[in-house]
Amino acid sequence: MGAELIKTIALPKVEDDGFLCFVQTPDHIPFNIQRVYYIYGASPDKDRGHHAHKATRQFFICEQGNIELVMDNGQRRESKILEPDTGVMIEPLMWHEMHGFKPDTRLLVLASHRFDESDYIRNYQEFLDYINRG
Ligand code: TYD
Repeated sequence: MGAELIKTIALPKVEDDGFLCFVQTPDHIPFNIQRVYYIYGASPDKDRGHHAHKATRQFFICEQGNIELVMDNGQRRESKILEPDTGVMIEPLMWHEMHGFKPDTRLLVLASHRFDESDYIRNYQEFLDYINRG
């Protein structure tokens, strides 16, 4: 048994006629944010992700609904449910998948790099080869 792959962070949550959660650098997000993207209106139960990044660090918040996040480091695979008051870092060279989207699910992602398709590894065997090469 190694260390947990998915270390969720309980986000600060202010209860005031609803809830207000926040994240800030460097407390929760240990990188300079160069990009923010969000996913909404996804087809029910169509898996997303299925890739790893070579350099981009990301912080995920499922700000509405919940998703099952899977992480796989090439040796072990783990999954956890993300809800609006939890965040999680996804480091480079971590294969990840997001399952269980519903039409009203919203996933917010803060990223360390601008979008660059060449930063993706989208094939699982290529991912294994890439990490095994060192
Ligand atoms: P992708 O990262 O594969 O999303 P998911 O893993 O959720 O399915 O991106 C889907 C498409 O959107 C792909 O064609 C790349 C494009 N894209 C951008 O143009 N900019 C971005 O910041 C991101 C994250 C994706």
